[in-house]
Amino acid sequence: MAAQRGALIVLEGVDRAGKSTQCRKLVSALCATGHRAELLRFPERSTEIGKLLSSYLEKKNELEDHSVHLLFSANRWEQVPWIKEKLNQGVTLVVDRYAFSGVAFTSAKENFSLDWCKQPDVGLPKPDLILFLQLQLVDAAARGEFGHERYENGIFQERALQCFQQLMRDTTLNWKVVDASKSIEDVHKEIRVLSEDAILTATHRPLGELWK
Ligand SMILES: Nc1ncnc2c1ncn2[C@@H]1O[C@H](COP(=O)(O)OP(=O)(O)O)[C@@H](O)[C@H]1O
Ligand SMILES: [Mg+2]
Repeated sequence: MAAQRGALIVLEGVDRAGKSTQCRKLVSALCATGHRAELLRFPERSTEIGKLLSSYLEKKNELEDHSVHLLFSANRWEQVPWIKEKLNQGVTLVVDRYAFSGVAFTSAKENFSLDWCKQPDVGLPKPDLILFLQLQLVDAAARGEFGHERYENGIFQERALQCFQQLMRDTTLNWKVVDASKSIEDVHKEIRVLSEDAILTATHRPLGELWK
């Protein structure tokens, strides 16, 4: 019998909502309870495209806004063969940011429609579950200073949050909003229950295509 496929679980949310913390904890907890689970993040800075994006985020180079949007998308597409292989082997993937961040950050810029921003990511593996870590920007600010990377400022984060809210209205996607203002352990417990559920459901369903 073929191995049952793993689930594709994505964590999204504004800067300092706790995505990276929760991704790490979720992968450890799943592995500790006998699941096969691995972590990935976007942008994936280790590839050639990823290195270009990393310098862009560190403000070491300038790239035209449309072209950088396409590069962020390409950075996801270049991982797709690996993603599909892992899921088919029964490995659950926990993803720190995905196409939703890509769309939210570009559409927060002037003169970019949400629709245009979504197009390059149409057809990517569709997440079985998208956990949105909801946190007010004032509470995020209380967790520490902004970093020095591009996009790490209040006005931009506010606009990106509005785009996320529009993307969450899409009922063809399995969005779950999690209150990220709770303690790390409490958020973890909630995320874990939702993830266990998504893993069970995913085994019976073929992997979908995003925004198709
Ligand atoms: N639930 C929480 N309550 C308080 N602090 C948190 C919580 N989750 C994360 N943090 C802290 O907030 C900061 C940002 O967390 P991180 O996981 O890096 O967020 P993100 O990846 O969403 O930017 C870290 O210092 C982390 O320890
Ligand atoms: Mg992070």
